[in-house]
Amino acid sequence: MSLPSASQTGEGGPQASDFPEHIAIIMDGNGRWAKARGLPRAAGHERGVEALRRTVEAAQEIGLKNLTVYSFSTENWRRPVAEVNALFGLLKAYVNRDLNRLASEGVRVRILGTREGLPHDVQELVDRAESKTADNRAFNLCIAFNYGGREELVRATQKFARAVQNGEVQTSDLNEESFATYLDSDGIPDPDIMIRTSGEYRLSNFLIWQAAYAELIFMDVLWPDFSKTQLLEAIEIYRARERRFGGLASGAA
Ligand code: FPP
Repeated sequence: MSLPSASQTGEGGPQASDFPEHIAIIMDGNGRWAKARGLPRAAGHERGVEALRRTVEAAQEIGLKNLTVYSFSTENWRRPVAEVNALFGLLKAYVNRDLNRLASEGVRVRILGTREGLPHDVQELVDRAESKTADNRAFNLCIAFNYGGREELVRATQKFARAVQNGEVQTSDLNEESFATYLDSDGIPDPDIMIRTSGEYRLSNFLIWQAAYAELIFMDVLWPDFSKTQLLEAIEIYRARERRFGGLASGAA
């Protein structure tokens, strides 16, 4: 879905925000968390995985159905090799340790981003996580890894162009809804909430198509300290907002 449905917009009118369908999180602040404790940055990322585990569990408990987290961006290759390797290692450890449990809980794991450049063993693991959980429907956990929003848009456009070349579709078939099916997030509703931790105010190339109407919530907490409390706080902030999707505020007409 790329445009808000009539039920979301109340046939063009504003609507108080209800429980979100999808929350996306930019998990920022691992490095600062570690530095403040005199620890190496990798230690911050390790604690970040624990925060991720807590957050997935909390999201399932409260009945959220879709969670997307930003774990490694296409720009993160600019970091020192040791840190990049540490992040690959953490993804592998997370999948190896949690995949069976997530699968048995009905979680569908999806990795958003390009496989290009990823070490072979990481690619294999990512494929295994996706195929093992492909039929699960209770909860979608999307891990953006080697992900960049612009790169995703370019790849989607290439897929569409190939489909035109192969005679499968015509240029005139393209609209906002059909374009979204070429994105890595195909089939996942657009995020209602985009959280960024650590007090920074940027989207950093995350879900730039999908987050067009997301409510942006910036929180001062560093990611390793994030827990159910902050998740609930973000939902409360969201519910107090009025989403207009380009319409008018209540009582303005
Ligand atoms: C940003 O903090 C965080 C990242 C670049 C990586 C996020 C990764 C995790 C939470 C753990 C890995 C999880 C998996 C599943 C692989 P930063 O390092 O930019 O922090 P800083 O801005 O304080 O330096």
